[in-house]
Amino acid sequence: MQFPKARRPRRRLRDPIHEHRSFHRTESRIAVAGHPIHAMLVAFPIALCVSTLGADAFYWWTGDPFWPRVALWAAGVGFLMGILAGLAGTAELLLVPGIRIRAASWTHFILAVMLLALLGANWGIRWGDPAAAVLPWGFLTSLLATGMTGMTGWHGGKLVFDYGLGTQADHDDSPRGERN
Ligand code: HEM
Repeated sequence: MQFPKARRPRRRLRDPIHEHRSFHRTESRIAVAGHPIHAMLVAFPIALCVSTLGADAFYWWTGDPFWPRVALWAAGVGFLMGILAGLAGTAELLLVPGIRIRAASWTHFILAVMLLALLGANWGIRWGDPAAAVLPWGFLTSLLATGMTGMTGWHGGKLVFDYGLGTQADHDDSPRGERN
């Protein structure tokens, strides 16, 4: 004779981070009327990094000494605006509990610091002789920095649009399949 198996209560996996009381406190603190300053500032390093690459490519193509000066200025202003954006982002990271608690925020921070180092290098190598610095190292550094900008920017967008960081939205960042 076979006895029915005793039913054991089903145990669900618990994510202690998700259950932490500060998990949903993601609203931006470094903001103007609720609009995060970091998001406003990042447009500058992104656009100026791509502009540096464009100026390098135009110099390679035309040999016109105007372009290395454009690249020098674009790289410098891009780096300084990147530092400002990074300071706003870092303040957000440290001050907002729901941002600080997520591993993804720290991934973005690490990517961003590597990017800022590249942007600084791309400016520094042009100081002495901007035209001589373009080929090959200026161009290659611009290319690498543009790729890194794409990754950092994409990941920043993920923080906002997937996790709702910096927003007031009542978001749900449970794995995609579990969303209802
Ligand atoms: C250095 C430290 C940085 C930290 C700690 C940081 C942190 C953050 C945080 C917390 C957010 C979520 C939105 C918010 O709360 O403002 C964000 C968004 C974002 N970040 Fe950063 N960030 C840093 C640097 C950068 C840099 C250098 C870039 C340039 C590529 C960048 C690109 C972005 C983008 C594109 C978004 C999405 C903005 C939006 O669409 O609203 N971040 N970042």
